[in-house]
Amino acid sequence: MENSYKNVIVINHPVCEHNMTNIRDRNCSPDCFLNSLRRVAEILMFEATRHLPVKCCHVETPVAECDSFKIDDSYKIVFAPILRAGLALSEIAKEIYPEASIQHVGMYRDEATLEPVWYYDKTPVAYSNPDKIKVFVLDPMLATGNSSKAAVSLFLKKGISIENIIFVSVLAAPEGLNALCGEFPGLKIYTAHIDKTLNARAYIVPGLGDAGDRLFNTFEK
Ligand code: URA
Repeated sequence: MENSYKNVIVINHPVCEHNMTNIRDRNCSPDCFLNSLRRVAEILMFEATRHLPVKCCHVETPVAECDSFKIDDSYKIVFAPILRAGLALSEIAKEIYPEASIQHVGMYRDEATLEPVWYYDKTPVAYSNPDKIKVFVLDPMLATGNSSKAAVSLFLKKGISIENIIFVSVLAAPEGLNALCGEFPGLKIYTAHIDKTLNARAYIVPGLGDAGDRLFNTFEK
């Protein structure tokens, strides 16, 4: 779908819209939330991985031999969920491409400053061949952009170029997109929807509330 950001791809798919409506609904049951979020995550991850490099191969079917394609395994694919809500995306991503490495990054938001506070980093100290790595940073909610910027910066510092980093979110606020695109103009971002704004507590409006609370059913109605 068209939007005013150069490198932002917004998914335009009726099944995605349908499931987005479910997860926005505060009365959606935990079961409905989980299943609907998984459907959105599948569509997002298929789109976000659309440009992975492939290589030609030869395969023998029960009927005949043919040329075919596989994801080029000379590249290492990294899915980096920002804990904890990013797990919803990485679980689906892992099903789609089990050969990927899941490298968790843990940050929580300091509610006073809205700045990310690191508590976990499962990325290696150094990547041996950073040019052959594709990193997908996964965070369902792109709100202020503070934790997203911290995660993307981490991979840049470890030598991954911005062309090899893709950011995936379910919902994005303009404030977060402006922050992320402003800091990293070359970063590709996939999202299912761009919402209106943030509220005073930096929650996305209309959004879906706290994604982690809703996913893990720690949500107080
Ligand atoms: N994180 C969430 O889980 N929800 C928001 O609306 C913003 C950040």
